[in-house]
Amino acid sequence: MSLTNRLLMRGIRKEYPGVCALDGVDFEVAFGEVHALLGVNGAGKSTLMSILSGATRMDGGAIFINDKRLDITSPHKAMELGISVIYQEFNLVPHLTVAENIFLGREPRKRMGFVDYRKMYTGAVGLLERLGAPFSPRERVADLGVAQQQLVEIAKALFKEARVIAMDEPTATLSMKETERLFSIIRLLKAEGKGIVYISHRLEEIFEIADRVTVLRDGRLVETCSLQGVTRERLVEMMLGKALEGAVPGGRGERPFAPTTGHEVLRVEGLTRRGVLEDINLTVMEGEILGIAGLVGAGKTELARALYGLDKIDEGKVVIGGRPVRLQSPAEAIRMGVVLVPEDRKRLGLVLGMAVRENISLASLFRFSRFGFVNGRRERMTAGEMVESLRVKTPSLEQQVRNLSGGNQQKVVLAKWLLRGARVLIFDEPTRGIDVGAKAEVHGLIRALADKGAAILLISSELQEVIDHSDRMVVMHGGRITGELSKEEATPERVLFLAMGGNSR
Ligand SMILES: Nc1ncnc2c1ncn2[C@@H]1O[C@H](COP(=O)(O)OP(=O)(O)OP(=O)(O)O)[C@@H](O)[C@H]1O
Ligand SMILES: [Mg+2]
Repeated sequence: MSLTNRLLMRGIRKEYPGVCALDGVDFEVAFGEVHALLGVNGAGKSTLMSILSGATRMDGGAIFINDKRLDITSPHKAMELGISVIYQEFNLVPHLTVAENIFLGREPRKRMGFVDYRKMYTGAVGLLERLGAPFSPRERVADLGVAQQQLVEIAKALFKEARVIAMDEPTATLSMKETERLFSIIRLLKAEGKGIVYISHRLEEIFEIADRVTVLRDGRLVETCSLQGVTRERLVEMMLGKALEGAVPGGRGERPFAPTTGHEVLRVEGLTRRGVLEDINLTVMEGEILGIAGLVGAGKTELARALYGLDKIDEGKVVIGGRPVRLQSPAEAIRMGVVLVPEDRKRLGLVLGMAVRENISLASLFRFSRFGFVNGRRERMTAGEMVESLRVKTPSLEQQVRNLSGGNQQKVVLAKWLLRGARVLIFDEPTRGIDVGAKAEVHGLIRALADKGAAILLISSELQEVIDHSDRMVVMHGGRITGELSKEEATPERVLFLAMGGNSR
């Protein structure tokens, strides 16, 4: 095989205490190609990219561009060699402007060493225009949305004249429209001869954008192949090492249970938070999963936050179990049995420096305690059962959550709240970043909670996920509910129409 026009990683090994994250993996990306990297949670995708970016040192293996062996000893070195890795948790400095972020560390200088702001801003305008970015380089990064921050990361890579750009789950937080725009940018970069590595759990995306795919499983290379002539089922099989039982997620699942016509657990009347949410009305019954669909930015997370006592409500009423409540803090919400499983697992759901066991039991310590002493054995057993049933990939219960892969961290958040038990559970994007194998399990668990009588709000920007897994749904757009659909009425076209702001009334 010729070594020209490509970046090649050969025999890459990386071990962590108790885990072999990469076991002699070969990977390559050609210039002018989009190469997808696929694998279930914990397969080693992010670790491979982290090695490429210079953030993680490999234990063995070699990296080449063309025939030249690279010595990637630091992120700075990787950048000099033309390699940019864009993580899902961006590496931007929030209080600096867009331009300052793009040029960080390599600002154009005037004589005497002063930063040449004029040159910097004109340069930034040029880069942003190339990407069709609809914002000014003078904006503070903190004021931008996720999709826009991502464009800043890409502009940064362009400025550094990266030849290889890797994106780790870039669309996880993007709306459909934003994803489309990202794809056109990726096509542009590809046409310019860049090598793009693309990580995603969404197979449709991989078929749409990638030329070839490499599948990893348990830190090993399974196969590299062209996407032409490979089926979705075959890819899933490569990822899991076996065929997936039942329908492949993304197809239309059967609803396994009928909703109970029990008691009303949650009622929201005229809830308004000025400028954010307007006149929200909904009810959720015992044993029911109410889906909340809408594109990114529709106000779904804002609604979840308001119901969880994180944000102030200006008007309206919340009734739980027949009693009007005023939820002014998450502590109060939890006391009333309302729990939010947040989308931003790093900031809201987990204590990264603590063990898997502690994170799971934290919200339920009262269950294991008597007279102020925690029964450690019971705590470990219960946490162990949760880890097993959700198939959290971790070498032990004592592993720090920080060291788990992205999807496995999300499973720990779920475990914590599943254990806590609650009357109203709000799931905000519960399967974001979760692989095909575990997605079905998460949906199964949510359904199991409903069957135990919980009232569930299932929030997702993946319209199909809401359609497939809720008993009834409301659709949001611009902070309002634009329509309510029964299971039978909820076709993808209808939901999309409402999500784009169409009104059913
Ligand atoms: N710093 C670390 N310390 C210990 N173990 C780690 C560390 N980083 C990663 N691991 C382990 O290495 C394995 C591979 O993780 P990696 O993050 O590469 O998975 P991934 O394929 O990106 O998964 P996901 O789809 O969930 O993001 C996992 O078992 C993970 O727990
Ligand atoms: Mg990852």
